[in-house]
Amino acid sequence: MCGIVGILGKHEVAPTLVEALKRLEYRGYDSAGIATVNDGALERRRAIGKLVNLSDLLVHQPLAGKSGIGHTRWATHGAPTLTNTHPHQTRRVAVVHNGIIENYRELRADLAQAGITHQTETDTETVALLAQHYIDQGATPADAVRRTVARLEGAYALAFLFEDEPDLMIAARKGSPLAIGHGDGEVYIGSDAIALAPMTNRVTYLEEGDCAVLTRSTITITDPAGTPVVRTPRTIRVDAALIDKAGHKHFMSKEIAQQPTVIGETIAAYVAADASDINLPGEGIDFTKINRLTMASCGTAYYACLTAKYWFEQLAGLPVEVDFASEFRYRTPPISDGTAALFVSQSGETADTLAALRYCAGKAQSILSVTNVPESSIARESDLTLPIYAGAEIGVASTKAFTCQLTVLLLLALKAAHARGRISSQTLQEKLTAVRGLPAIFNQAMSIEDHVRSISQRLAESRDALFLGRGLMFPIALEGALKLKEISYIHAEAYASGELKHGPIALIDEKMPVVVMAPRDALFDKTVSNMQEVMARGGKVILITDQSGATSASEGVWQTIILPDIDFDLTPILYALPVQFLAYHTAVTKGTDVDQPRNLAKSVTVE
Ligand code: M6R
Repeated sequence: MCGIVGILGKHEVAPTLVEALKRLEYRGYDSAGIATVNDGALERRRAIGKLVNLSDLLVHQPLAGKSGIGHTRWATHGAPTLTNTHPHQTRRVAVVHNGIIENYRELRADLAQAGITHQTETDTETVALLAQHYIDQGATPADAVRRTVARLEGAYALAFLFEDEPDLMIAARKGSPLAIGHGDGEVYIGSDAIALAPMTNRVTYLEEGDCAVLTRSTITITDPAGTPVVRTPRTIRVDAALIDKAGHKHFMSKEIAQQPTVIGETIAAYVAADASDINLPGEGIDFTKINRLTMASCGTAYYACLTAKYWFEQLAGLPVEVDFASEFRYRTPPISDGTAALFVSQSGETADTLAALRYCAGKAQSILSVTNVPESSIARESDLTLPIYAGAEIGVASTKAFTCQLTVLLLLALKAAHARGRISSQTLQEKLTAVRGLPAIFNQAMSIEDHVRSISQRLAESRDALFLGRGLMFPIALEGALKLKEISYIHAEAYASGELKHGPIALIDEKMPVVVMAPRDALFDKTVSNMQEVMARGGKVILITDQSGATSASEGVWQTIILPDIDFDLTPILYALPVQFLAYHTAVTKGTDVDQPRNLAKSVTVE
């Protein structure tokens, strides 16, 4: 899950490569590098840490050349050292790579037998050395690349540049996305269309196993058998506001603040003007023909699925199975007739989710997806894609994508409930009217920020934290714990409130903050009983509830955060806000890197 870019340009490419890498930094920021062909020779500049270090280096050591490739790294094989930083280069070949070459040890051993040694710990250097090896045996660059990729197992998006070949770049993909951008007398490649947006909006996505030989005037794509294939270019709409923080200190803060707007846009895209129905794209889905739903996703998207399980089961009477995509894909679950599969992914490129989707597609299931990137692999491989209209999400910690995912999933569950005769047309209309009121209520709830900031300043002193919730609040508690740990590095766990007494209650002492999520719904009294058990053992409770819940249960709690009243089915979407604010302001207090937390990347395209 690195980002790669390549340009055969008319002008000097180093500044444009760096600009494109900036747009790919969400994929990894352990190190970055570029290589160009200049006066027939390959040359590179590399720096560890964030892209800004590479930019600084280029000020002192500029790199000339009108053909170049670049890379921003999320380390898999080998520590984030300069030696392991891409591009990897041999005498005649420079390579950048996103993915994992699973058989690199065998390939290394084969190369060693031929007397070829490695300088780095990476799997990518093996690719460069293999291509060089074939060139040394007399292969053309294109043949060398084809022979190289034929030996690779695992996932890759690769871009190659060659000494003495200023008008040649070769790209190949399997398991990792890669787009070709079409310019005027120029050609580009990138891990996604966002990277290429300043240069072009005409893009061709390579398909599995494709290899593309590019010059400034020709593009030849072949499939794994070497047969020329035609891939159709598309015109892409890319969010112009992508790298603008709009006056916020962090992208995460901007993205939290955008939620009333983007949730509103998502609702407007699906709910009929008179709130009588939910319009799905294309032919939609016939929920009367489905008797089970399988969902698999990762991270925050997994928690969106877990929330949807409650909605689909309670509202529509539709049994739902939810699993981590990384478990699902290797569990080989039996799939019965009448099962539809639904995958949720902000990026639409998460490797485990894509693999789970492909497993289900191989069983001839109908494949549905909810994604923020309509051109993504997951969207393209689905029978029906439901977009979320969150706009580009840059902060590594997902916020607005989560609440928009929840919005679409709730609408889908209501659609299913109506289609399956579980709710009347009148109830559907009432529910949809409540959904349409959500952006305004969410906006009103933004006023809790100052209060949450002051709580966070105290929370930042803690080493651990617990989150509790029941029913619809359980997945939101899980999401709250994930948000807190990923950006503030405070150890946080979430439990279903009723589970606490079966073990985790042993963790409670005066130092343990416990966030209790409890709107005054049917389960409120049960959760409050669990909260009392925490307080009886000295735990410091932060109660997140509505006015009625606060009036009845806030005695003795350390802090109470009060949210506006809302239809209980909508509480997961609204209650995501305080846990986002808690994590954000705790991280800001601690001074961590909010938008690019350590060890993480936005899009996880390796397993
Ligand atoms: O792009 P996806 O929604 O498929 O990504 C899934 C997870 O990697 C993602 O939600 C991750 O957990 C976020 N960092 C959470 O904030």
